[in-house]
Amino acid sequence: MNFIKVNNYEELSKKAANLIAAQVIVKPNCVLGLATGSSPVGTYKNLIEACKNGDITFENVTSVNLDEYVGLDGSNDQSYRYFMNDNLFDHINIDKEKTFVPNGCAADLKAEGEAYDAHIKALGGIDLQLLGIGLDGHIGFNEPDSFFTAETHVVDLDESTIKANARFFESEADVPRKAITMGMASIMQAKKVLLIANGANKKKIVEKAFFGPITPEVPASILQLHPDLTVIYSEN
Ligand code: GLP
Repeated sequence: MNFIKVNNYEELSKKAANLIAAQVIVKPNCVLGLATGSSPVGTYKNLIEACKNGDITFENVTSVNLDEYVGLDGSNDQSYRYFMNDNLFDHINIDKEKTFVPNGCAADLKAEGEAYDAHIKALGGIDLQLLGIGLDGHIGFNEPDSFFTAETHVVDLDESTIKANARFFESEADVPRKAITMGMASIMQAKKVLLIANGANKKKIVEKAFFGPITPEVPASILQLHPDLTVIYSEN
C-alpha cells in the first residue's frame, strides 16, 4: 500500500487528479471506476481543468460508477447520475454513452446488478478505481456487515450513512433508505485502486481501515489485500 499524507484538500485533489490523468495518458481507452461524495469534487475539478487545457482527453475513456440510490432517476438532482454529469461529465469530452451508473430505478434490481457486473467484465475490468470512504468504513455503499459481498447488490443504508448524507437533501426523511452498489469483486479486481479521504473526522476510520484488522465490519479494510492500492489522506 502506498499511503500518502498531504497537508490539505487542494493537495489531495491535485495528487489524485494527477494519478487519474496518468492512467488516461498511459491507456487512452481505459476504464475508470468513479465515485461520488464530497471527497472527489476537487479531483474532478482538476481533471476538468486538465481536459480544458488539452493536457488529457477523455474521448476514448469508459467510466463505471460505484453506486446509485434506489428510486432516484438521473433527472433527480440528488441521484449519483446527476452528480456525475454535473461535477464531471458535462465539462469534459467523454462520450456520455460510455459513462455507466447503476440504474436505481430498474424494475428488477437483482438483474440490474448481474448485468452491471457482466458489463464490467465485458469491458475487461476496471483499470483504476477511485474511492472515498464513509465514516463507518463503507466503500461504494458496501456497509459494515458480517461478510463481504462480491457482486453488485442492493443494500439497506446504515443509520449513520443516512445521517451523514442528509446534508445533501432537504431533510433526513428524504434520504433514500436503499442503494445499489458495486460489490467487492469488481472493486478488488480493478488493476489500481485510489482511495481519497479528508478531514479530521475521517482520521479514526482511515486508521482502522488501513492499519487495523481486515474485517467486513470495516469494509474498506479489504483493500489492504489489493496489490496496487494508493491512499491519499489529508487531516485538514
Ligand atoms: C457516500 C458514497 C461513497 C462515498 C461516501 C463518503 O455514501 N456512496 O461512495 O465514498 O459517501 O462521502 P464523502 O466523500 O462525502 O465523505
